[in-house]
Amino acid sequence: MMNGKLAHDEPMLPADTLRGQVAFITGGGTGLGLEIASQFVKLGARVVLASRNAERLEAAAKDLGGSDVAIACPADVRNYPEVRNAVEIAVKRFGSLDILVNNAAGNFFCPTAELSPNGWRTVVDIDLNGTFHCCHAAYEFLKRSKDGGNIISIITMNALSGWPGAAHAAAAKAGILSLSRTLAVEWGPDNIRVNTISPGPIADTEGVRRLYEERARADLERRRVALGRFGSKRDVANAAVYLASPFANYVTGENLVVDGGRWLKFVTQ
Ligand code: COA
Repeated sequence: MMNGKLAHDEPMLPADTLRGQVAFITGGGTGLGLEIASQFVKLGARVVLASRNAERLEAAAKDLGGSDVAIACPADVRNYPEVRNAVEIAVKRFGSLDILVNNAAGNFFCPTAELSPNGWRTVVDIDLNGTFHCCHAAYEFLKRSKDGGNIISIITMNALSGWPGAAHAAAAKAGILSLSRTLAVEWGPDNIRVNTISPGPIADTEGVRRLYEERARADLERRRVALGRFGSKRDVANAAVYLASPFANYVTGENLVVDGGRWLKFVTQ
C-alpha cells in the first residue's frame, strides 16, 4: 500500500481467497503459466504444474514453496493418456481438482503458404487438441469440486481478427473460444464455469520474444496498443485470479480481454 493506494503488484484479493482450491496449470513452469501459479499460491491455492519439460517444472514447483503447495506433473498436452495420468496424480496428491488453466501453447511466425502441414498440425494439436484433452480429463473431478469447477483458457483476440503469419495459432485459439462457450453451457449444470482470457502482447514472455522482438517489431507492436505499452504477466494473472475467485461466481462463457485496448485500436484505425 503506497499513500493509501493499492499498488499494481499487491494481492488483489484476501490472502485466503483460493484456500482449499487445487489448480492444474498447463505450461505452468514458465511465463504466464508460472505467474498465474504464483498468484494462485499467494491466495492459498495448491498448484499442479504440467508441461513437457520436467526439469523446468521441478525448479518452478520448488520456487513456489515445494511439494506441500506445488508439484510438477510432466505431460505433453497432445498426448491424452499422459494428460489423464497427470490429472490423476494431481488428484491423488492434493485430493481434488477445482481449477484448470489451459495455458500451454505453441506458436511461431510463418506465412501460411510456407507453413508445412505438420507445422499447422503441431500448433493446432498443442493449443486446441491439448485444451480439449485437459478439459475432458479434468471434467469428472471438476464437477466434484465443492465450490464449483473452473476452467480458464488463454487465447487471443487475433483469433477473431485473423492473424497473418500465425494462421495455425489464430485458428486453434478460435477453436478454444468456441469450445469454451460450448462447455460453459454443457457443464453449467455441473457448476463448472468456463472462461477465456485474451492477453495482448505481454513483456518478458516467449510469445513476445518470438513474434515481435526477434522480428524487430516490438516498437511497432507497442504503437498498435491503445495504452502504448506491453502488458505485464501480473496483468494477466490478476485476470485469472478474478475468474478463479468467488468474485466471478456468476461469470461463465466470457472472454476477458486484457490487451491494453489493442484489438479496438486495430479495428478503429
Ligand atoms: N517456421 C516454420 N515451420 C516451423 C517453425 C518455424 N519457425 N518451427 C517449427 N516448424 C515446423 C517444423 O518444421 C515441423 O514441420 P515439418 O515436419 O514439416 O518440418 C513442425 O513445425 C513441427 O516442429 P517440431 O519442432 O518437430 O515440433 P515440436 O513439437 O518439437 O515443437 C513448436 C512445437 C514448433 C510449437 C515449438 O516451437 C515449441 O515447442 N513451442 C513451445 C513454446 C512456444 O511456442 N511459445 C510461444 C507461445 S505464444
